[in-house]
Amino acid sequence: MGITYKSYEDGCRIIFKLDTPNTTYMFQTVDSDGFLLHIYYGRRLRLTDIDDLSRIYQHPFLPSENERERASFMDCAPFEYPGHGLGDYRDDAFAVLNENGHSVTSFSYSNHRIYKGKPRLEGMPATFGTEEECETVEIIGTDIVNGLEITLFYTVFNDVDAIAKSVNIRNTGKFENIKLTKVLSSCVEFYGDEYDTIFLHGSWARERIIDRKPLGYGRHCVSSLRGESSHQEHPFIGLVSRNADEDSGDVYGFNFVYSGNFIAQAEKSQFDIVRVLMGINPVDFCWNLRKGKEFQAPEVICVYSAEGIGQMSRTFHDLYRKHLIRSKYKDLERPILINNWEATYFNFDTEKLISIAEQASKLGIEMLVMDDGWFGHRNDDSSSLGDWTVNEDKIKGGLKYLVEEINKRGMKFGIWMEPEMISPDSDLYRAHPDWAIQIPDRKAVMSRAQYVLDLSRRDVIDYTFGQISKILKSANIEYLKWDMNRQLTDVGSFLLGKEEQGEVFHRYCLGVYELQERLITEFPDILLENCSGGGARFDPGMLYYSPQIWTSDDQDPIERIKIQQGTALIYPLSSMGAHVCDCPNHSTGRTTPFETRGYVALAGTFGYELDVTAISEKNKKMIPAQVSMYHRYNSIVRDGDYYRVASFLENHEWDCWETVTKDKSEALITIVNVMARVNYKARLVKLKGLDPLKNYSLRYFDMNTGEEEENELILPGDALMYAGINLTGNYFGDYKARLLYIKAI
Ligand code: DGJ
Repeated sequence: MGITYKSYEDGCRIIFKLDTPNTTYMFQTVDSDGFLLHIYYGRRLRLTDIDDLSRIYQHPFLPSENERERASFMDCAPFEYPGHGLGDYRDDAFAVLNENGHSVTSFSYSNHRIYKGKPRLEGMPATFGTEEECETVEIIGTDIVNGLEITLFYTVFNDVDAIAKSVNIRNTGKFENIKLTKVLSSCVEFYGDEYDTIFLHGSWARERIIDRKPLGYGRHCVSSLRGESSHQEHPFIGLVSRNADEDSGDVYGFNFVYSGNFIAQAEKSQFDIVRVLMGINPVDFCWNLRKGKEFQAPEVICVYSAEGIGQMSRTFHDLYRKHLIRSKYKDLERPILINNWEATYFNFDTEKLISIAEQASKLGIEMLVMDDGWFGHRNDDSSSLGDWTVNEDKIKGGLKYLVEEINKRGMKFGIWMEPEMISPDSDLYRAHPDWAIQIPDRKAVMSRAQYVLDLSRRDVIDYTFGQISKILKSANIEYLKWDMNRQLTDVGSFLLGKEEQGEVFHRYCLGVYELQERLITEFPDILLENCSGGGARFDPGMLYYSPQIWTSDDQDPIERIKIQQGTALIYPLSSMGAHVCDCPNHSTGRTTPFETRGYVALAGTFGYELDVTAISEKNKKMIPAQVSMYHRYNSIVRDGDYYRVASFLENHEWDCWETVTKDKSEALITIVNVMARVNYKARLVKLKGLDPLKNYSLRYFDMNTGEEEENELILPGDALMYAGINLTGNYFGDYKARLLYIKAI
């Protein structure tokens, strides 16, 4: 494990080898120009003599001795950090506009530094690890013509097969100012295989649906220019060998630890070399790098799995649980909450909330979350964002009184805020119209009747934090749902000069990070759940601040199967906000069994979003059983290994997933029979992740009693995994689900 390197006598060639427990990443310098070329990323190479590396690797395209003939080399060499405009016509990683009007860039190796541990990225989310857990190499290069020093950071983890990469650029002073027009965070080159790409595509209420397709020639890019990672496309790219499936094949996953505009791109070029790029979207990005200043690009996580897509997911889950999410709640059972949004929308008052809490508390629910509509004069979505004062016409007696009444009923209290926004109909906007992101003389585009606050401004950040802090201190508030309901348009800042307008998008994102950092520092006990009109900002950047994120506004369990499957491709189940919804479902109109809604929500943080005073007695009676189910099994879901067993997205019939404790002593299998079929074929399912040498008891959970059923089957782990069990079961009717609990005996 760790980082090794070998320098050759000619002084031009240095090979770097970066090892995680099961993967190796290699690159080298060549030529007196200091070109930095990628060599290999894949299975761990157990070479003890680093000299062997040079014999394994024979690069097909070395730079010609004749310096006048470099273009053919430039256009096919696998650059670690490709510059712009010197004959490499594939997409590049960085570009500038210097004071002479030139945009060309290049990276030439100058030196390197290897050390234990991992540096923080100032003001930005990033994975972390101790000196025992990880090791970092900084490759320092220069672009002399532009007076730039470019540092490429690579950190390898000793306990997870992941590599974190980021880039820092410093203006060493040749020019007073250099405009950075593009600074991506990672480039990795692949050759010699046919690949598929996996992207996560979506829309509002349909986030992160898995989209796999063969990679052809040309550029295949997903991106966001919405000022957030977005519902529509996701800062992730999977590159998988054509035959890869859940359990086998080469799988590479790249995930961007950033919550703003991004690109994730795979480009297959003329020589079948695939270049994967990831970083801040260069469109509408222009950063002024003044003499002596640095620009830090966000981090990209690279994961390789030789054991299919499932192992890639488990690696991301482990990395994020151990090395990204900081909240003390990440390893704890979260309180079972009931959120009033779909129960009441804007139509609630103190009395209504107390009646929900009273009933919910009796059923075992532990926290009431008051959603949108408690402040200013907000009775619909047309006003008051920015005026964070309690509307005492609705919350009679005030917030403190309400919270005390909720607490008296044995429940915790949580609150909703949308701190980044400003309604045109608000006292805040009337006082500070220039605090909204807008362009002078251009009629601003409205979305959900609101504008976005200009968080590139220090005064706006400080004011906003003051508002959040005032509310949180005003009562015993133990949870905050931080929402963000519109994407950015008309991006301009009234405060910044014309030279700086290209910085607004990134500065906005840094402003959000600063606010959340201050929040969790000043209120370390608050459980923070991020949210963006559902799941438009479900990304690793946000996980650095909150242990859970609202996954989607679509809570229909059948839709959720697909959304949660796509989300769990990268993110641990412990981070997915999931609730038992009302029926017919408010997004789809579908009616599903209460049991099924419970089983699907169990695969996330678990809670309720319905009017518990208005549901049927039959469903109400089931809540204590669901509460007991959550307490029994949450640790398996939260801390365990996740396996996809069957995908409704692919088979259009049923879905099945499994979570297994790390010590393989317990497992949960959830089966959702979406479409009832008579006489359908046997579902002989080979379970995964168990210990072949252990015997296991198998019992279904009974949602009427809140206990496992009496009948049990005892089977050896090897039989369960290699021969399989029949999960055909007795499902009469659509949308039926069951939960099987497996325990080593
Ligand atoms: C969007 C969120 O996703 C919903 O859960 C709810 O909080 C609404 N916003 C409130 O406006």
